[in-house]
Amino acid sequence: MSKKILVLPGDGIGQEVTDAAMQILKFTIKKFNLNFSINTLDVGGTAYEKTGSPIPHEVLQAAKEADAILFGAVGAPQWDNLSWDDRPENALLTLRKELNLFANLRPAFLFNELSEASPIKEKIIEGLDILIVRELTGGIYFGEPRGVIEDETPNYAFNTMIYNEDEIRRIAKIAFESAQKRSGRLCSVEKANVLEVSKFWRSIVTEMSAEYPDVELSHQLADNTAMQLVLNPNQFDVIVASNLFGDILSDIAATLTGSIGMLPSASLDGSLKGMYEPCHGSAPDIANQDIANPLAMIGSLSMALKYSLDEEVVSNKIDAAIKTFIQKGFRTKDIATDEKYLKTSEVAGKIIKIIEDE
Ligand code: IPM
Ligand code: MG
Repeated sequence: MSKKILVLPGDGIGQEVTDAAMQILKFTIKKFNLNFSINTLDVGGTAYEKTGSPIPHEVLQAAKEADAILFGAVGAPQWDNLSWDDRPENALLTLRKELNLFANLRPAFLFNELSEASPIKEKIIEGLDILIVRELTGGIYFGEPRGVIEDETPNYAFNTMIYNEDEIRRIAKIAFESAQKRSGRLCSVEKANVLEVSKFWRSIVTEMSAEYPDVELSHQLADNTAMQLVLNPNQFDVIVASNLFGDILSDIAATLTGSIGMLPSASLDGSLKGMYEPCHGSAPDIANQDIANPLAMIGSLSMALKYSLDEEVVSNKIDAAIKTFIQKGFRTKDIATDEKYLKTSEVAGKIIKIIEDE
């Protein structure tokens, strides 16, 4: 049976980077005789302009039926003042929630050739290889009650950071298991010195650690982790964090590697199904200039092939080609050290050539 891939390019550079990944997907389908069906739909602001909704019913339906979703990026300032439901970001949050994609894997690793592109000294980031496991369907992003009260003086607004035991256990399980497959170290991040929800999180994770005697568990406060990621990132292997803290820490981790334009991510529901997106956003400031780095999106395609589409060999070929691409000195604007760089639309051709030449 053919596997279903839903492609949602979205807004801004989402379109351009998805085009690059699609060229590679189409090439691999032909070359390796893969049995995939591809459906491409609008989402985010682009969908809102055409249909009045950032996530039309048809998109949600197709997403539920897909084996893997490739998601570009959504959002741009022109849609910032819409109601919450109409904003492009709502498409992303709805997909995560409706598909129960609670486990967000955000690997951050450094290609040593790119250490010059990192804002951090080479000796600090050399060999960097971290996996952030971010909880994605709970916490303050979705907690109720939430709201803005405008008929009282003073007006106020509020959100709720809430986790139940099951939500903590299922994300911690993924994190412990990921640590087992890597170097066996897990750091759980929260603010247990201030927040009840964090203290609760810490107690559950601590209790679970008895089931994983081969994993060395540590706990850190989120503000300290932000600092430690910059001071001594190599102390980390796997980091597990709530939705909000994971969001913040993964941007820091991404930046260490030279460019957020390099980093893919997978959002999983605990089975094989997943949504794959670059960690960067829609970057409206550089959209339509053909200068975005599509490697994060291409890496996301590779993760989809590995986790959801049962094509690990093809996935490894793409990863190897990305590595060769960097080693050969090819650069996009964000990681270039001089004025010589490839346009977004030129990257897929180089990657394909590298795979062909193998
Ligand atoms: C991310 C993004 C999203 C988030 C935004 C676009 C809603 O920052 O995926 O990290 O906050 O989760
Ligand atoms: Mg973010």
